[in-house]
Amino acid sequence: MKLFDVYPVNNIVIDKAKGSYVWDDKGEQYLDLYGGHAVISIGHTHPHYVERLTNQLNKVGFYSNSVKMPLQEELAEKLGKLSGKPDYQLFLISSGAEANENALKLASFHNGRKKIIAFKKAFHGRTSLAVATTDNPSIVAPVNQTSNVIFLPFNDVAALEACFAEQGNEISSVIIEGIQGVGGINVASESFLQAIRRLCDQYGAVYIADSVQCGYGRSGKFFSHDWAGVNADIYTMAKGMGNGFPVAGIIIAPHLQPKHGMLGTTFGGNHLACAAALAVVETIEKENLIQNAAEIGEYLMTELKKIPQLQNVRGRGLMIGFDVPEQFKDLRKNLLWKHKIFTGEAKPNVIRLLPSLALRKKDADQLLEAIKEEIQVGAESMAK
Ligand SMILES: Cc1ncc(COP(=O)(O)O)c(C=O)c1O
Repeated sequence: MKLFDVYPVNNIVIDKAKGSYVWDDKGEQYLDLYGGHAVISIGHTHPHYVERLTNQLNKVGFYSNSVKMPLQEELAEKLGKLSGKPDYQLFLISSGAEANENALKLASFHNGRKKIIAFKKAFHGRTSLAVATTDNPSIVAPVNQTSNVIFLPFNDVAALEACFAEQGNEISSVIIEGIQGVGGINVASESFLQAIRRLCDQYGAVYIADSVQCGYGRSGKFFSHDWAGVNADIYTMAKGMGNGFPVAGIIIAPHLQPKHGMLGTTFGGNHLACAAALAVVETIEKENLIQNAAEIGEYLMTELKKIPQLQNVRGRGLMIGFDVPEQFKDLRKNLLWKHKIFTGEAKPNVIRLLPSLALRKKDADQLLEAIKEEIQVGAESMAK
């Protein structure tokens, strides 16, 4: 049997990983500033994570949500404290798309409405409603097309107000990434998030904060929406939540009431998933990783801004993007193949940095040196 060929892959086999580093099957070391797409939060193979998962696997790996799950309650308790939302309710699933799918559905159950506001360049996943709210027609199958989703320009308060004024009583929810990831690291302005909160309150719509990529401490606060001083009604989380174990969750404000059978999943919140998520929460807290993300992110961003050839350096914490001018278009490729540094990208010419929240200053310096060298080489070859 062949693999279904949907991914353009780099010809690298990763065989070993530790902290912010990975090694290929030939023993070559790479600095990982991509984290397998913002997934590695506490660092690869963190000892506490390995120990908690190993111990759990030796006891019980899986049982479904038909029995009591003290591990889920322990996770809800610790996550409530770490996120600063102790009064919210936790529902566990296994992927980011599933988190958004459930959040959008729950909002519609809650207010009985059908319309959703999403934004230009948004990415919310590939399942039916999640992809319908994603601004990329090439990944929306005909069966997922719907007239229930309204796309508005990002960070445009006037457009949002106009849309609510016209059809506010039909809007079920507004879904927004606090920092757009796939869309190229676009930070939602504080005034925009505050306007979403105000209009959702005024019209009875549900504010859904897609925190799958920008959440879990990556922005230097637990949720990037915290920068605006607002509370969303539902936060969706995945990626960093399990440091690689497929675990995702939504946390739900107290006024949204559950009903038996309303939502459900076979795998969500199983014993191993909870052990992984608990190890992550405990490590973020013990090692002060949110503060580290804020400090190292600030350092990296300040230093990147000093390199004049990089344009529009932006982001928050350890979610950083910058535009690479055409003359240095091979920068990302050269960082990988010459300097052994993994970074992320966004089309057409954005480099995205999504490293572990435990990134050290010396790792940041390694990237900065490599970029400066590449720019120097590029400038010299142009001068010839
Ligand atoms: C903001 C955002 N939401 C949702 C998703 C979908 O998550 P998953 O791939 O786990 O379904 C992603 C994935 O990149 C994402 O970046």
